Amino acid sequence: MIDQLLTQLHIWQNKPVLFAPGEPRFWDDPHISQSMLESHLDDRHEAASRQSQVIEKTVQHWLGSGLVKPGDRLLDLGCGPGLYAQQLSLAGVNVTGVDISENSLRYAIKRAKAQDLDIDYRLINFLDLDEKESYDVIIQVYGELNTFSDPVRDKLMSVIGRALKPGGRFIFDLSTRHLRSKQKTGSSWFVEDTGFWRPHRHLVLEQNFDYPQHDVWLDQYIVADHEDVKIYRNWFHDYQLDTIQPVLSHLGYTIQHVWDDLAGSDYTEDGDWLGLVVTNDKR
Ligand SMILES: C[S@@+](CC[C@H](N)C(=O)[O-])C[C@H]1O[C@@H](n2cnc3c(N)ncnc32)[C@H](O)[C@@H]1O
Repeated sequence: MIDQLLTQLHIWQNKPVLFAPGEPRFWDDPHISQSMLESHLDDRHEAASRQSQVIEKTVQHWLGSGLVKPGDRLLDLGCGPGLYAQQLSLAGVNVTGVDISENSLRYAIKRAKAQDLDIDYRLINFLDLDEKESYDVIIQVYGELNTFSDPVRDKLMSVIGRALKPGGRFIFDLSTRHLRSKQKTGSSWFVEDTGFWRPHRHLVLEQNFDYPQHDVWLDQYIVADHEDVKIYRNWFHDYQLDTIQPVLSHLGYTIQHVWDDLAGSDYTEDGDWLGLVVTNDKR
């Protein structure tokens, strides 16, 4: 038993191949998604969502610049607890929000009901979305596109291109290597009685791996409790303007705006984030 475990841990401590999968259930794991919801709603940090004043500024920027207008049909991909969806709906935007976290959507629906907002929340994997020319605007906020391998990223971009009306806009953000360079590779471990990963006592072995020649980073977590040992892998493919531009162009997208964030801060070459607005011409 211990021998088997040591053999497995020995394998896991080696640098995995790019985008090697970990546990498939992360966002929709019942306990982890509850921890994630709490994290989304905790305004003291930006671990899962940006802070409320940044979200407000971002939504005001979209509305003020005319990128999003009252009456527009807008799709929020990975809407989480609906922090953007609510504000957009309050401004008269016709919002659909999709997510795979039942916990986050339950909260979002409760909040919408309390505010008498008509938001169409759907529990689906956005990669399975099959809609054609339905939305004026699609948004995806907080670097979700960074988390995919190239083939999955391209599949999602084609789902988005299909779902946009002609001339429709996709608004999204991407983390850059400048953000990643603030992190350090290494490993650490801890045991806790209850926490983010499990509601009962568990051990977490955390390790980070850098793939600088690919602009890819991995946060890996091995979580052990009385029942089993599981490995979670959070992959991040960071981009700069000159690395995302050819990808977008190849997929038929044209960049309309680029900022250092989605609240419209001026673009600099060394920002932590890129905020982008693109349209799809190849349909
Ligand atoms: C980093 S959070 C950002 C949430 C929200 N956009 C925000 O900024 O507050 C990513 C969200 O995407 C959702 N998500 C991840 N993969 C998904 C998928 N394949 N289909 C639908 N939702 C997904 C997660 O459940 C989570 O709510």
